[in-house]
Amino acid sequence: MMLQIRKPDDMHLHLRDGAILESVVAASAADFGRALVMPNLLPPITTGAMAAAYRNRILAALPNSSTFKPLMAIYLTDETDPAEVKAAVKCGHAVAVKLYPAGATTNSTSGVTDISNVRGVFEALAETGTPLCVHGEVAEFDVDIFDREKVFIEKVLERIRAWEPRLRIVLEHVTTAEGIEYVRSNRPRVAATITVHHLIINRNHIFRGGLQPHNYCLPVAKREHHRLALIGAATGGETSFFLGTDSAPHLATDKECASGCAGIYTAPVAVSCLAHIFEDAGALNELEKFASVHGAHFYRLEPNSEFIELRKRETPLQDVGNPIVGDDRIVVFDPGFDLHWEPVRKEENANGR
Ligand code: DOR
Ligand code: ZN
Repeated sequence: MMLQIRKPDDMHLHLRDGAILESVVAASAADFGRALVMPNLLPPITTGAMAAAYRNRILAALPNSSTFKPLMAIYLTDETDPAEVKAAVKCGHAVAVKLYPAGATTNSTSGVTDISNVRGVFEALAETGTPLCVHGEVAEFDVDIFDREKVFIEKVLERIRAWEPRLRIVLEHVTTAEGIEYVRSNRPRVAATITVHHLIINRNHIFRGGLQPHNYCLPVAKREHHRLALIGAATGGETSFFLGTDSAPHLATDKECASGCAGIYTAPVAVSCLAHIFEDAGALNELEKFASVHGAHFYRLEPNSEFIELRKRETPLQDVGNPIVGDDRIVVFDPGFDLHWEPVRKEENANGR
């Protein structure tokens, strides 16, 4: 069986920099037309000039024939100048601004400590129609980690929306039924990305047979009923939900240790996993909308004009192998089931296979 869909966009991707960038960018470029690249580097990407320079480093790391287009986001800090953001958007250096509550996740120490410090930026974004992407979790240690998304919506998102009702917001990597319902009641200005891994794992998978660091990410996977709510939203054809893999490569030694980093590296298997999930839900015909149409629409872009083909194989796909970085490696997400949908890569097309 073959499936043809418009080339997907990954509207939330971590590519890092340097040696990790070099080893991961080709996997995203193989299956995706564009990606919104997250700015949580050290130091973070806080200006249009930094975003433009980072974009050039990504382009330089791409395979020669690649048409992959990185879309950039600016990292919001307490000091971000609204005029800087406006200028960066105007000259095309960035398409969005990312709000990390300080301390909420990987490399978020420069994030926003109090949202009242950045009201001017929210206003600038609302005026220009530029999306604010939010890491939707409060960072307070005394809030239960499984409640942090819900509390963020009630305490932070509602406040931002009350200040700037016109602001267009993406609730990134939504993980809860409450988050899904919030989007449904506040669309079309509020939308959400959904990751591949949150469609597959629930919180049990973090502890199955011993602690599983490669299933640890933020927001942390929730109970099964939340996962089912995500499946419903992703496969239901609703325009406010679209793919953002949050594929987040870390060196294995930084995950398989005390204080392991949050992040799941899904890029090489993302499209195969998605086809599996949508087929399982009896919704293969909705895959293209979720992966290739709704995100572009929210970002006011034309969907990609290229198409990709997926072939369903009888025998399971072979392991893609973990990319090597120096004497370390990056472990690719294991969905816990065999994958049968194989993206037909460009080179294979060219060879007529
Ligand atoms: O699991 C995560 N990893 N969540 C994030 O919010 C950041 C990401 C990363 O950069 O590693
Ligand atoms: Zn992320």
